[in-house]
Amino acid sequence: MGKVKGRDEKRLKPDQSPSRDVRSWLDEVKSLGLLKTVEGADWDEEIGAITDTNVKKNKYTLLFDKIKGYPKGFRVLTGSLLDSRRVALTLGLPPTMSDLELVKVLRDRLKSAGENIDEYSPRYVDDAPLFENTLKEVDMSMFPAPKWFVHDGGRYIGTADAVMTRDLETGWVNVGTYRMMLKDKNTLSILFEAVRHGRFMVKKYWDAGKPCPVAVSFGHHPLALMFAGIEAPQGVSELAYAGAVSEQPYEVIKGPVTGLPIPADSEVAIEGYIVNEPTTEGPLGEFIGYYSMATANQAPTVKVEAVYHRNDPILLGTCAGRPPHDYSYFRCPVRAALIWDILEKAGIQGVQGVWCHEAGYSRAFTVVSIKQMFAGHDRMAGYIACQSRPGAVAGRYVVVVDDDIDPTNLDDVIWAMCSRSDPATGIDIISETIGTPVDPLAEHDPSKDMLEYTGSRGIIFATKPFGRLLRNEFPKVVEPSPEVKEKVTREWSEIF
Ligand SMILES: Cc1cc2nc3c(=O)[nH]c(=O)nc-3n(C[C@H](O)[C@H](O)[C@H](O)COP(=O)(O)O)c2cc1C
Repeated sequence: MGKVKGRDEKRLKPDQSPSRDVRSWLDEVKSLGLLKTVEGADWDEEIGAITDTNVKKNKYTLLFDKIKGYPKGFRVLTGSLLDSRRVALTLGLPPTMSDLELVKVLRDRLKSAGENIDEYSPRYVDDAPLFENTLKEVDMSMFPAPKWFVHDGGRYIGTADAVMTRDLETGWVNVGTYRMMLKDKNTLSILFEAVRHGRFMVKKYWDAGKPCPVAVSFGHHPLALMFAGIEAPQGVSELAYAGAVSEQPYEVIKGPVTGLPIPADSEVAIEGYIVNEPTTEGPLGEFIGYYSMATANQAPTVKVEAVYHRNDPILLGTCAGRPPHDYSYFRCPVRAALIWDILEKAGIQGVQGVWCHEAGYSRAFTVVSIKQMFAGHDRMAGYIACQSRPGAVAGRYVVVVDDDIDPTNLDDVIWAMCSRSDPATGIDIISETIGTPVDPLAEHDPSKDMLEYTGSRGIIFATKPFGRLLRNEFPKVVEPSPEVKEKVTREWSEIF
Protein backbone atom coordinates (compact mmCIF):
# COMPACT_ATOMS: atom_id res chain seq x y z
CA MET A 1 0.00 0.00 0.00
CA GLY A 2 3.05 2.28 0.01
CA LYS A 3 3.73 5.10 2.41
CA VAL A 4 0.80 5.73 4.67
CA LYS A 5 -0.17 9.30 5.37
CA GLY A 6 -2.48 10.36 8.17
CA ARG A 7 -2.52 6.93 9.71
CA ASP A 8 -4.18 6.49 13.05
CA GLU A 9 -1.06 5.97 15.10
CA LYS A 10 -1.01 9.37 16.78
CA ARG A 11 -2.71 9.28 20.16
CA LEU A 12 -3.65 12.76 21.28
CA LYS A 13 -4.92 13.93 24.64
CA PRO A 14 -8.32 12.40 25.35
CA ASP A 15 -11.46 14.48 25.03
CA GLN A 16 -14.77 13.91 26.80
CA SER A 17 -17.33 13.68 24.04
CA PRO A 18 -17.36 13.83 20.25
CA SER A 19 -17.34 17.33 18.85
CA ARG A 20 -18.92 16.07 15.65
CA ASP A 21 -22.34 14.58 16.12
CA VAL A 22 -25.17 13.50 13.85
CA ARG A 23 -27.77 14.93 16.24
CA SER A 24 -26.44 18.48 16.12
CA TRP A 25 -26.06 18.05 12.34
CA LEU A 26 -29.78 17.18 12.23
CA ASP A 27 -30.58 20.37 14.19
CA GLU A 28 -28.76 22.38 11.54
CA VAL A 29 -30.61 20.65 8.72
CA LYS A 30 -33.87 21.33 10.57
CA SER A 31 -33.03 25.02 10.87
CA LEU A 32 -32.77 25.15 7.07
CA GLY A 33 -36.28 23.69 6.81
CA LEU A 34 -34.93 20.54 5.17
CA LEU A 35 -35.81 17.90 7.78
CA LYS A 36 -38.98 15.80 7.93
CA THR A 37 -39.75 13.16 10.54
CA VAL A 38 -41.69 10.20 9.19
CA GLU A 39 -43.56 8.05 11.73
CA GLY A 40 -45.05 4.61 11.30
CA ALA A 41 -43.34 3.46 8.07
CA ASP A 42 -42.59 -0.21 7.57
CA TRP A 43 -38.94 -1.30 7.24
CA ASP A 44 -40.25 -3.68 4.59
CA GLU A 45 -40.17 -1.57 1.37
CA GLU A 46 -41.93 1.54 2.76
CA ILE A 47 -38.77 3.29 3.99
CA GLY A 48 -37.21 2.59 0.58
CA ALA A 49 -40.23 3.82 -1.38
CA ILE A 50 -40.51 7.02 0.68
CA THR A 51 -36.77 7.65 0.38
CA ASP A 52 -36.73 7.16 -3.39
CA THR A 53 -39.88 9.21 -4.04
CA ASN A 54 -38.54 12.02 -1.85
CA VAL A 55 -35.33 12.32 -3.90
CA LYS A 56 -37.30 12.75 -7.09
CA LYS A 57 -39.55 15.43 -5.50
CA ASN A 58 -38.74 17.67 -2.55
CA LYS A 59 -35.38 16.33 -1.42
CA TYR A 60 -35.95 16.43 2.33
CA THR A 61 -33.66 14.78 4.82
CA LEU A 62 -35.85 12.07 6.36
CA LEU A 63 -35.75 10.76 9.90
CA PHE A 64 -37.88 7.63 10.25
CA ASP A 65 -39.17 6.92 13.75
CA LYS A 66 -41.72 4.52 15.27
CA ILE A 67 -40.83 2.09 12.52
CA LYS A 68 -43.30 -0.82 12.34
CA GLY A 69 -42.37 -3.50 14.85
CA TYR A 70 -39.66 -1.37 16.53
CA PRO A 71 -39.65 0.78 19.66
CA LYS A 72 -39.83 4.56 19.35
CA GLY A 73 -36.36 5.99 19.14
CA PHE A 74 -34.82 3.26 16.97
CA ARG A 75 -34.50 5.49 13.91
CA VAL A 76 -33.31 5.44 10.30
CA LEU A 77 -31.93 8.54 8.58
CA THR A 78 -31.93 8.93 4.78
CA GLY A 79 -31.51 11.85 2.38
CA SER A 80 -28.48 13.05 4.30
CA LEU A 81 -26.40 14.42 1.40
CA LEU A 82 -28.92 15.19 -1.31
CA ASP A 83 -27.60 18.51 -2.56
CA SER A 84 -24.93 21.18 -2.26
CA ARG A 85 -26.61 22.68 0.83
CA ARG A 86 -26.25 19.52 2.87
CA VAL A 87 -22.81 18.66 1.54
CA ALA A 88 -21.63 22.19 2.41
CA LEU A 89 -23.20 22.03 5.86
CA THR A 90 -21.55 18.68 6.47
CA LEU A 91 -18.18 20.23 5.69
CA GLY A 92 -18.83 23.28 7.87
CA LEU A 93 -19.31 25.56 4.83
CA PRO A 94 -22.16 28.02 4.18
CA PRO A 95 -25.08 26.17 2.53
CA THR A 96 -25.35 28.72 -0.28
CA MET A 97 -22.75 27.55 -2.75
CA SER A 98 -23.29 26.53 -6.36
CA ASP A 99 -22.11 23.08 -7.41
CA LEU A 100 -18.97 24.45 -9.03
CA GLU A 101 -18.16 26.73 -6.08
CA LEU A 102 -18.39 23.68 -3.88
CA VAL A 103 -16.00 21.77 -6.15
CA LYS A 104 -13.52 24.66 -5.98
CA VAL A 105 -13.61 24.84 -2.18
CA LEU A 106 -13.38 21.07 -1.94
CA ARG A 107 -10.44 21.12 -4.29
CA ASP A 108 -8.60 23.73 -2.24
CA ARG A 109 -9.30 21.80 0.90
CA LEU A 110 -8.31 18.47 -0.62
CA LYS A 111 -5.11 20.05 -1.82
CA SER A 112 -4.17 21.44 1.56
CA ALA A 113 -5.42 18.19 3.12
CA GLY A 114 -2.84 16.35 1.04
CA GLU A 115 -0.13 18.64 2.35
CA ASN A 116 -1.15 18.74 6.02
CA ILE A 117 -2.78 15.37 6.38
CA ASP A 118 -0.74 14.31 9.42
CA GLU A 119 -2.17 17.20 11.44
CA TYR A 120 -5.58 15.69 10.94
CA SER A 121 -4.88 12.12 12.00
CA PRO A 122 -7.94 10.68 13.75
CA ARG A 123 -7.91 11.77 17.34
CA TYR A 124 -8.62 9.18 20.04
CA VAL A 125 -11.10 9.97 22.80
CA ASP A 126 -11.57 7.89 25.93
CA ASP A 127 -15.31 7.50 25.95
CA ALA A 128 -18.22 7.99 23.61
CA PRO A 129 -22.02 7.89 23.88
CA LEU A 130 -21.81 4.84 21.60
CA PHE A 131 -21.04 2.77 24.71
CA GLU A 132 -24.32 3.71 26.43
CA ASN A 133 -25.31 0.17 25.46
CA THR A 134 -22.73 -2.59 25.11
CA LEU A 135 -24.16 -5.97 24.11
CA LYS A 136 -22.30 -9.24 23.93
CA GLU A 137 -25.53 -11.21 23.43
CA VAL A 138 -25.95 -10.30 19.83
CA ASP A 139 -29.16 -10.08 17.83
CA MET A 140 -28.76 -7.79 14.86
CA SER A 141 -32.50 -7.86 14.06
CA MET A 142 -32.96 -5.51 17.03
CA PHE A 143 -32.26 -2.66 14.56
CA PRO A 144 -34.83 -1.63 11.94
CA ALA A 145 -32.67 -2.51 8.92
CA PRO A 146 -34.75 -1.81 5.82
CA LYS A 147 -35.55 -4.11 2.98
CA TRP A 148 -35.40 -1.18 0.57
CA PHE A 149 -37.15 -2.47 -2.55
CA VAL A 150 -39.25 -5.40 -3.65
CA HIS A 151 -36.49 -7.28 -5.53
CA ASP A 152 -33.86 -6.89 -2.81
CA GLY A 153 -32.64 -10.19 -1.47
CA GLY A 154 -32.80 -9.23 2.20
CA ARG A 155 -32.62 -6.54 4.86
CA TYR A 156 -29.60 -4.26 4.64
CA ILE A 157 -28.33 -2.76 7.87
CA GLY A 158 -25.22 -1.48 6.10
CA THR A 159 -25.77 0.80 3.12
CA ALA A 160 -24.15 4.04 4.31
CA ASP A 161 -21.84 2.31 6.75
CA ALA A 162 -18.19 2.90 7.59
CA VAL A 163 -16.21 -0.34 7.61
CA MET A 164 -12.81 -0.24 9.33
CA THR A 165 -10.11 -2.83 8.62
CA ARG A 166 -6.40 -2.72 9.34
CA ASP A 167 -3.73 -3.77 6.87
CA LEU A 168 -1.90 -6.80 8.22
CA GLU A 169 1.50 -5.53 7.08
CA THR A 170 1.45 -1.73 7.20
CA GLY A 171 -1.09 -1.10 9.97
CA TRP A 172 -2.95 1.36 7.73
CA VAL A 173 -6.64 1.55 8.67
CA ASN A 174 -8.97 1.66 5.68
CA VAL A 175 -12.50 2.98 5.94
CA GLY A 176 -14.90 2.00 3.18
CA THR A 177 -18.63 1.83 2.58
CA TYR A 178 -19.51 -1.76 1.71
CA ARG A 179 -23.04 -3.11 1.85
CA MET A 180 -23.98 -5.50 4.64
CA MET A 181 -27.04 -7.72 4.81
CA LEU A 182 -28.62 -9.33 7.86
CA LYS A 183 -28.09 -13.09 7.78
CA ASP A 184 -28.92 -14.30 11.25
CA LYS A 185 -28.62 -13.09 14.84
CA ASN A 186 -24.87 -12.61 14.81
CA THR A 187 -23.98 -12.99 11.15
CA LEU A 188 -23.87 -10.44 8.37
CA SER A 189 -22.61 -10.54 4.81
CA ILE A 190 -20.28 -7.92 3.37
CA LEU A 191 -19.81 -7.26 -0.33
CA PHE A 192 -16.56 -5.91 -1.73
CA GLU A 193 -16.31 -5.06 -5.39
CA ALA A 194 -13.11 -5.78 -7.29
CA VAL A 195 -10.62 -3.00 -6.59
CA ARG A 196 -11.56 -2.20 -3.03
CA HIS A 197 -8.90 -1.68 -0.40
CA GLY A 198 -11.07 -3.57 2.10
CA ARG A 199 -11.08 -6.63 -0.16
CA PHE A 200 -7.28 -6.61 -0.50
CA MET A 201 -6.86 -6.31 3.26
CA VAL A 202 -9.23 -9.18 4.02
CA LYS A 203 -7.38 -11.36 1.52
CA LYS A 204 -4.07 -10.79 3.31
CA TYR A 205 -5.52 -12.12 6.58
CA TRP A 206 -7.09 -15.09 4.84
CA ASP A 207 -3.87 -15.89 3.00
CA ALA A 208 -2.20 -15.95 6.42
CA GLY A 209 -4.93 -18.31 7.66
CA LYS A 210 -6.50 -15.69 9.96
CA PRO A 211 -9.93 -14.08 10.18
CA CYS A 212 -9.89 -10.35 9.46
CA PRO A 213 -10.82 -8.10 12.42
CA VAL A 214 -13.46 -5.56 11.50
CA ALA A 215 -15.33 -2.69 13.12
CA VAL A 216 -18.38 -1.20 11.44
CA SER A 217 -20.33 1.94 12.22
CA PHE A 218 -23.91 1.88 10.94
CA GLY A 219 -24.86 5.42 11.98
CA HIS A 220 -22.55 8.45 12.06
CA HIS A 221 -22.08 12.03 10.96
CA PRO A 222 -22.60 12.07 7.15
CA LEU A 223 -19.03 13.33 6.79
CA ALA A 224 -17.79 9.80 7.45
CA LEU A 225 -19.98 8.51 4.61
CA MET A 226 -18.71 11.22 2.29
CA PHE A 227 -15.17 9.93 2.55
CA ALA A 228 -15.74 6.23 3.23
CA GLY A 229 -17.85 6.03 0.08
CA ILE A 230 -15.37 7.45 -2.40
CA GLU A 231 -11.91 6.54 -3.66
CA ALA A 232 -9.58 8.56 -1.45
CA PRO A 233 -6.00 8.72 -2.73
CA GLN A 234 -3.95 5.59 -2.22
CA GLY A 235 -2.36 5.31 1.21
CA VAL A 236 -4.37 8.12 2.80
CA SER A 237 -6.61 7.35 5.74
CA GLU A 238 -10.20 8.30 4.85
CA LEU A 239 -10.86 9.60 8.35
CA ALA A 240 -7.75 11.78 8.22
CA TYR A 241 -8.96 13.01 4.87
CA ALA A 242 -12.44 13.74 6.20
CA GLY A 243 -10.88 15.57 9.17
CA ALA A 244 -8.59 17.61 6.96
CA VAL A 245 -11.28 18.59 4.47
CA SER A 246 -13.63 19.67 7.26
CA GLU A 247 -10.66 21.27 9.08
CA GLN A 248 -11.34 19.36 12.29
CA PRO A 249 -9.72 16.01 13.16
CA TYR A 250 -12.10 13.08 13.21
CA GLU A 251 -12.55 11.76 16.74
CA VAL A 252 -12.46 8.00 17.16
CA ILE A 253 -12.72 5.54 19.99
CA LYS A 254 -10.75 2.33 20.20
CA GLY A 255 -12.91 -0.74 19.70
CA PRO A 256 -12.59 -2.97 22.79
CA VAL A 257 -12.55 -6.23 20.78
CA THR A 258 -10.37 -5.44 17.76
CA GLY A 259 -8.56 -2.25 18.74
CA LEU A 260 -9.80 -0.70 15.50
CA PRO A 261 -10.86 2.96 15.56
CA ILE A 262 -14.62 3.61 15.49
CA PRO A 263 -15.97 7.13 14.80
CA ALA A 264 -16.73 8.60 18.22
CA ASP A 265 -19.94 10.06 16.83
CA SER A 266 -21.17 6.58 15.92
CA GLU A 267 -24.74 5.78 16.94
CA VAL A 268 -24.55 2.03 16.28
CA ALA A 269 -21.44 -0.08 15.73
CA ILE A 270 -20.28 -3.65 15.78
CA GLU A 271 -16.97 -5.42 16.07
CA GLY A 272 -16.20 -8.85 14.80
CA TYR A 273 -14.32 -10.87 12.20
CA ILE A 274 -14.62 -11.34 8.46
CA VAL A 275 -14.22 -15.07 7.97
CA ASN A 276 -13.39 -17.08 4.88
CA GLU A 277 -16.87 -18.61 4.63
CA PRO A 278 -18.78 -17.47 1.56
CA THR A 279 -22.43 -16.69 2.12
CA THR A 280 -25.19 -15.64 -0.28
CA GLU A 281 -26.22 -12.03 -0.33
CA GLY A 282 -28.29 -9.73 -2.52
CA PRO A 283 -29.41 -8.80 -4.93
CA LEU A 284 -29.54 -5.13 -3.97
CA GLY A 285 -30.34 -2.24 -6.27
CA GLU A 286 -27.03 -0.89 -7.58
CA PHE A 287 -25.89 2.72 -7.85
CA ILE A 288 -26.30 2.50 -11.64
CA GLY A 289 -30.05 2.09 -11.19
CA TYR A 290 -30.39 -1.61 -12.00
CA TYR A 291 -30.20 -5.00 -10.35
CA SER A 292 -27.21 -5.59 -12.53
CA MET A 293 -25.61 -8.28 -10.37
CA ALA A 294 -28.97 -9.97 -10.88
CA THR A 295 -28.71 -13.15 -8.85
CA ALA A 296 -27.54 -13.61 -5.30
CA ASN A 297 -23.78 -13.20 -4.83
CA GLN A 298 -21.27 -15.16 -2.83
CA ALA A 299 -19.81 -12.76 -0.28
CA PRO A 300 -17.66 -12.96 2.85
CA THR A 301 -19.31 -13.55 6.22
CA VAL A 302 -18.98 -11.23 9.20
CA LYS A 303 -19.24 -12.87 12.63
CA VAL A 304 -20.42 -10.20 15.05
CA GLU A 305 -18.80 -10.37 18.50
CA ALA A 306 -20.07 -7.16 20.10
CA VAL A 307 -22.73 -4.52 19.47
CA TYR A 308 -22.70 -0.96 20.79
CA HIS A 309 -25.40 1.65 20.47
CA ARG A 310 -26.46 4.99 21.80
CA ASN A 311 -29.81 5.34 23.46
CA ASP A 312 -32.37 5.98 20.71
CA PRO A 313 -29.88 5.08 17.99
CA ILE A 314 -29.97 6.46 14.47
CA LEU A 315 -29.01 4.17 11.58
CA LEU A 316 -27.69 6.07 8.59
CA GLY A 317 -29.20 4.49 5.50
CA THR A 318 -29.42 5.06 1.79
CA CYS A 319 -30.63 3.31 -1.33
CA ALA A 320 -29.94 3.44 -5.03
CA GLY A 321 -32.52 3.73 -7.79
CA ARG A 322 -32.95 5.45 -11.12
CA PRO A 323 -30.78 8.55 -10.73
CA PRO A 324 -31.06 10.98 -9.14
CA HIS A 325 -31.14 8.64 -6.18
CA ASP A 326 -30.47 9.00 -2.48
CA TYR A 327 -26.68 8.91 -2.78
CA SER A 328 -26.06 10.05 -6.34
CA TYR A 329 -25.33 13.71 -5.46
CA PHE A 330 -22.63 13.80 -2.81
CA ARG A 331 -20.01 11.97 -4.81
CA CYS A 332 -20.38 14.44 -7.71
CA PRO A 333 -18.53 17.37 -6.10
CA VAL A 334 -16.04 15.17 -4.25
CA ARG A 335 -15.20 13.08 -7.31
CA ALA A 336 -15.00 16.21 -9.47
CA ALA A 337 -12.54 17.76 -7.01
CA LEU A 338 -10.44 14.57 -6.89
CA ILE A 339 -10.30 14.33 -10.70
CA TRP A 340 -9.44 18.02 -11.03
CA ASP A 341 -6.61 17.58 -8.56
CA ILE A 342 -5.25 14.61 -10.52
CA LEU A 343 -5.45 16.57 -13.80
CA GLU A 344 -3.47 19.37 -12.22
CA LYS A 345 -0.90 16.98 -10.77
CA ALA A 346 -0.53 15.42 -14.22
CA GLY A 347 0.39 18.86 -15.55
CA ILE A 348 -2.83 19.70 -17.38
CA GLN A 349 -3.09 23.49 -17.44
CA GLY A 350 -6.12 25.65 -17.96
CA VAL A 351 -8.73 23.45 -16.27
CA GLN A 352 -11.71 25.70 -15.50
CA GLY A 353 -14.07 23.20 -13.96
CA VAL A 354 -14.93 19.52 -13.57
CA TRP A 355 -18.33 18.08 -12.84
CA CYS A 356 -19.55 14.51 -12.49
CA HIS A 357 -23.26 14.35 -13.24
CA GLU A 358 -25.88 12.68 -11.09
CA ALA A 359 -27.54 11.10 -14.14
CA GLY A 360 -24.26 9.23 -14.57
CA TYR A 361 -24.39 8.34 -10.84
CA SER A 362 -21.24 10.51 -10.43
CA ARG A 363 -19.15 7.93 -12.29
CA ALA A 364 -20.25 7.60 -15.90
CA PHE A 365 -20.65 11.16 -17.20
CA THR A 366 -17.80 13.48 -16.31
CA VAL A 367 -17.33 16.87 -17.90
CA VAL A 368 -14.02 18.73 -17.92
CA SER A 369 -13.92 22.34 -19.00
CA ILE A 370 -10.58 23.71 -20.21
CA LYS A 371 -9.19 26.89 -21.68
CA GLN A 372 -7.50 25.37 -24.73
CA MET A 373 -3.88 26.45 -25.07
CA PHE A 374 -2.58 24.18 -27.83
CA ALA A 375 -3.78 21.48 -30.21
CA GLY A 376 -4.22 18.19 -28.36
CA HIS A 377 -4.80 19.88 -24.99
CA ASP A 378 -8.33 18.45 -24.89
CA ARG A 379 -7.00 14.92 -25.58
CA MET A 380 -4.63 15.13 -22.62
CA ALA A 381 -7.42 16.25 -20.29
CA GLY A 382 -9.93 13.68 -21.53
CA TYR A 383 -7.66 10.66 -21.38
CA ILE A 384 -6.33 11.45 -17.93
CA ALA A 385 -9.77 12.25 -16.49
CA CYS A 386 -11.18 8.97 -17.72
CA GLN A 387 -8.27 6.82 -16.51
CA SER A 388 -7.66 8.46 -13.11
CA ARG A 389 -8.70 6.20 -10.24
CA PRO A 390 -11.75 8.26 -9.14
CA GLY A 391 -12.71 8.72 -12.81
CA ALA A 392 -12.09 5.20 -14.06
CA VAL A 393 -14.08 2.81 -11.92
CA ALA A 394 -17.52 2.23 -13.50
CA GLY A 395 -16.83 5.11 -15.88
CA ARG A 396 -18.38 5.46 -19.34
CA TYR A 397 -18.17 8.93 -20.91
CA VAL A 398 -15.92 11.93 -20.42
CA VAL A 399 -16.79 15.11 -22.25
CA VAL A 400 -14.19 17.85 -22.69
CA VAL A 401 -15.63 21.33 -23.27
CA ASP A 402 -14.28 24.85 -23.68
CA ASP A 403 -14.10 27.37 -20.85
CA ASP A 404 -17.30 29.19 -21.91
CA ILE A 405 -19.29 26.03 -21.10
CA ASP A 406 -20.53 25.46 -17.56
CA PRO A 407 -19.70 21.77 -16.93
CA THR A 408 -22.52 21.47 -14.37
CA ASN A 409 -25.15 22.61 -16.86
CA LEU A 410 -26.35 19.70 -19.01
CA ASP A 411 -28.00 22.00 -21.57
CA ASP A 412 -24.71 23.82 -22.04
CA VAL A 413 -22.76 20.56 -22.27
CA ILE A 414 -25.12 18.94 -24.76
CA TRP A 415 -25.15 22.11 -26.87
CA ALA A 416 -21.34 21.98 -26.96
CA MET A 417 -21.46 18.30 -27.94
CA CYS A 418 -23.93 19.03 -30.72
CA SER A 419 -22.20 22.11 -32.07
CA ARG A 420 -18.47 21.54 -31.47
CA SER A 421 -17.93 17.80 -31.72
CA ASP A 422 -17.81 16.04 -35.06
CA PRO A 423 -18.71 12.40 -34.30
CA ALA A 424 -16.32 11.15 -37.01
CA THR A 425 -13.27 12.72 -35.39
CA GLY A 426 -14.40 14.03 -32.00
CA ILE A 427 -15.06 10.80 -30.14
CA ASP A 428 -12.27 8.49 -29.02
CA ILE A 429 -12.98 5.03 -27.72
CA ILE A 430 -10.68 3.15 -25.38
CA SER A 431 -11.48 -0.52 -25.03
CA GLU A 432 -10.40 -3.09 -22.45
CA THR A 433 -10.43 -0.53 -19.62
CA ILE A 434 -11.31 -1.45 -16.05
CA GLY A 435 -14.79 -2.94 -15.83
CA THR A 436 -17.23 -4.12 -13.22
CA PRO A 437 -19.83 -6.86 -12.98
CA VAL A 438 -22.22 -4.13 -11.76
CA ASP A 439 -22.30 -2.76 -15.32
CA PRO A 440 -25.69 -3.74 -16.78
CA LEU A 441 -23.92 -4.36 -20.11
CA ALA A 442 -21.45 -6.84 -18.59
CA GLU A 443 -21.89 -10.44 -19.69
CA HIS A 444 -21.97 -12.38 -16.46
CA ASP A 445 -19.72 -15.37 -16.31
CA PRO A 446 -19.58 -17.25 -13.00
CA SER A 447 -16.13 -18.62 -13.85
CA LYS A 448 -14.73 -15.09 -14.05
CA ASP A 449 -13.13 -13.30 -11.15
CA MET A 450 -14.46 -9.79 -10.45
CA LEU A 451 -11.02 -8.46 -11.34
CA GLU A 452 -11.33 -9.76 -14.92
CA TYR A 453 -14.20 -7.53 -16.04
CA THR A 454 -13.40 -4.87 -18.61
CA GLY A 455 -15.40 -2.16 -20.36
CA SER A 456 -14.82 0.68 -22.77
CA ARG A 457 -14.76 4.46 -22.48
CA GLY A 458 -15.96 7.16 -24.82
CA ILE A 459 -14.22 10.51 -24.68
CA ILE A 460 -16.13 13.21 -26.45
CA PHE A 461 -14.18 16.30 -27.44
CA ALA A 462 -16.82 19.01 -27.60
CA THR A 463 -14.23 21.71 -28.07
CA LYS A 464 -13.74 24.27 -30.81
CA PRO A 465 -11.11 23.06 -33.31
CA PHE A 466 -7.95 24.61 -31.89
CA GLY A 467 -6.62 26.17 -35.13
CA ARG A 468 -9.89 28.03 -35.70
CA LEU A 469 -10.03 29.09 -32.07
CA LEU A 470 -6.47 30.42 -32.32
CA ARG A 471 -7.24 32.43 -35.46
CA ASN A 472 -10.57 33.55 -34.00
CA GLU A 473 -12.36 31.91 -36.91
CA PHE A 474 -14.94 29.86 -35.01
CA PRO A 475 -18.44 31.37 -35.42
CA LYS A 476 -19.47 33.82 -32.72
CA VAL A 477 -22.09 32.66 -30.22
CA VAL A 478 -25.50 34.33 -30.52
CA GLU A 479 -25.96 36.19 -27.25
CA PRO A 480 -26.44 39.69 -25.88
CA SER A 481 -23.37 41.79 -25.15
CA PRO A 482 -22.33 41.60 -21.46
CA GLU A 483 -22.94 45.35 -20.93
CA VAL A 484 -26.46 45.31 -22.33
CA LYS A 485 -27.25 42.09 -20.52
CA GLU A 486 -26.13 43.60 -17.22
CA LYS A 487 -28.15 46.78 -17.91
CA VAL A 488 -31.41 45.02 -18.82
CA THR A 489 -31.09 42.63 -15.92
CA ARG A 490 -30.78 45.62 -13.61
CA GLU A 491 -33.50 47.73 -15.20
CA TRP A 492 -36.04 44.94 -15.70
CA SER A 493 -35.24 43.14 -12.46
CA GLU A 494 -38.88 42.10 -12.05
CA ILE A 495 -38.47 39.77 -15.04
CA PHE A 496 -35.11 38.36 -14.04
C1 LIG B 1 -23.81 4.31 -0.47
C2 LIG B 1 -22.64 3.56 -1.00
C3 LIG B 1 -22.67 2.17 -1.04
C4 LIG B 1 -21.56 1.45 -1.51
N1 LIG B 1 -21.60 0.09 -1.52
C5 LIG B 1 -20.50 -0.60 -1.89
C6 LIG B 1 -20.48 -2.02 -1.79
O1 LIG B 1 -21.43 -2.66 -1.39
N2 LIG B 1 -19.33 -2.66 -2.14
C7 LIG B 1 -18.24 -1.99 -2.61
O2 LIG B 1 -17.24 -2.62 -2.90
N3 LIG B 1 -18.25 -0.65 -2.74
C8 LIG B 1 -19.34 0.06 -2.37
N4 LIG B 1 -19.36 1.42 -2.45
C9 LIG B 1 -18.19 2.10 -3.04
C10 LIG B 1 -17.06 2.19 -2.06
O3 LIG B 1 -17.48 2.57 -0.80
C11 LIG B 1 -16.04 3.20 -2.55
O4 LIG B 1 -15.57 2.79 -3.80
C12 LIG B 1 -14.89 3.39 -1.60
O5 LIG B 1 -13.92 4.17 -2.24
C13 LIG B 1 -14.30 2.07 -1.19
O6 LIG B 1 -13.24 2.32 -0.34
P1 LIG B 1 -11.78 1.82 -0.74
O7 LIG B 1 -11.43 2.58 -1.99
O8 LIG B 1 -10.97 2.21 0.43
O9 LIG B 1 -11.91 0.37 -0.96
C14 LIG B 1 -20.43 2.15 -1.97
C15 LIG B 1 -20.40 3.54 -1.91
C16 LIG B 1 -21.49 4.24 -1.43
C17 LIG B 1 -21.43 5.74 -1.35
